[in-house]
Amino acid sequence: MKALILSGGKGTRLRPLTYTGAKQLVPVANKPILWYGIEAIVAAGITDIGIIISPETGEEIKTKTGSGDRFGAKITYIIQDQPLGLAHAVKVAQPFLEDSPFLMYLGDNLVESDLRSLTERFKERNLDALTMLCAVSNPSAFGVAQVDEEGRVLQLVEKPKVPPSNLALVGIYLFSYAVHNAIANIKPSPRGELEITDAIQYLIDEPKKVESLQLQGWWLDTGKKDDLLEANRIILDTGLQTAVAGEVDDSSQVIGRVQIGEGTKIINCTIRGPVIIGRDCHLENCFIGPYSSVADGVTLIDADLEHSVVLQGAKVTGIQQRIVDSVIGQRAQLKIAPQRPKALRFLIGDDSQIELI
Ligand code: TTP
Repeated sequence: MKALILSGGKGTRLRPLTYTGAKQLVPVANKPILWYGIEAIVAAGITDIGIIISPETGEEIKTKTGSGDRFGAKITYIIQDQPLGLAHAVKVAQPFLEDSPFLMYLGDNLVESDLRSLTERFKERNLDALTMLCAVSNPSAFGVAQVDEEGRVLQLVEKPKVPPSNLALVGIYLFSYAVHNAIANIKPSPRGELEITDAIQYLIDEPKKVESLQLQGWWLDTGKKDDLLEANRIILDTGLQTAVAGEVDDSSQVIGRVQIGEGTKIINCTIRGPVIIGRDCHLENCFIGPYSSVADGVTLIDADLEHSVVLQGAKVTGIQQRIVDSVIGQRAQLKIAPQRPKALRFLIGDDSQIELI
């Protein structure tokens, strides 16, 4: 079995971060979101992995992720010239997939689930499609499935106004080669995309064997800021081991599960875990509260931070009010003068959001 990870797309919901980088490389607990997917796929025993990339962000993904050696996998990068839909991405990947069954994984999704149970069920029941479903409170925002008691999928609807169930399609699917014929027979949707839900509906109508499996753990689509922060919270809560490689001076306090990377200096700070701090950072006179991830090369001086993600090379100084629920982009600078500021001076990228609350 092969795997196909979709890591192209526009990422409009995560602007401005996605103006300069791929959303799948935005870190969760200091690791690119995409890498969690690759690791889960390899853990399920699949090592032949194709990654769909866009012309804009593909190089960055390739450079950072590499040939797959670090994951024990072989990665083939496949360029999709335009983000014309999930089914379009499969079409573009057909020369890589050949007639192999494959697991399709949306590169900005995170799930708490062993993918092996999915691949085993797919093989045992000799299916043409297996979709993963998750009960959600707002099904209208997703592709929604109607299933019978045995998990057979009867109908799929994309973002329905009146949802037939509360079961959303999680961004993980398994397909036999029959999906290629289904994709060849569907037309672009009103939003101009070749929809994977239409391809699966085609398989249901043929009829081919299409079943579903309900996800037991959590599922997060990290396409928006709050989902990204939630993913960060969950990963720090469940997966963080204490490890302090940097220097922590005697006037600092480190409480709970905290990871501090090599070359990082912590001076007169209180750090209350779960918190991860990368390499070569400088933190002085700070409080860093739970569920914060600070990437490599960050400077935080006289700052107070909680439930936030700070990306590589950012610099925050003199912000004594607590920074909460925030994502601070790479090399961004936030500074308040020591005396009470008389004016605010900004150079803010397009689509940035600043709330002084
Ligand atoms: P989406 O999050 O649905 O689309 P998007 O990345 O364009 O984001 P936004 O809605 O914020 O503009 O895509 C899910 C995943 O699939 C994501 O990792 C991007 C990827 N994708 C492709 O690789 N090719 C495509 O044609 C599309 C639509 C998405």
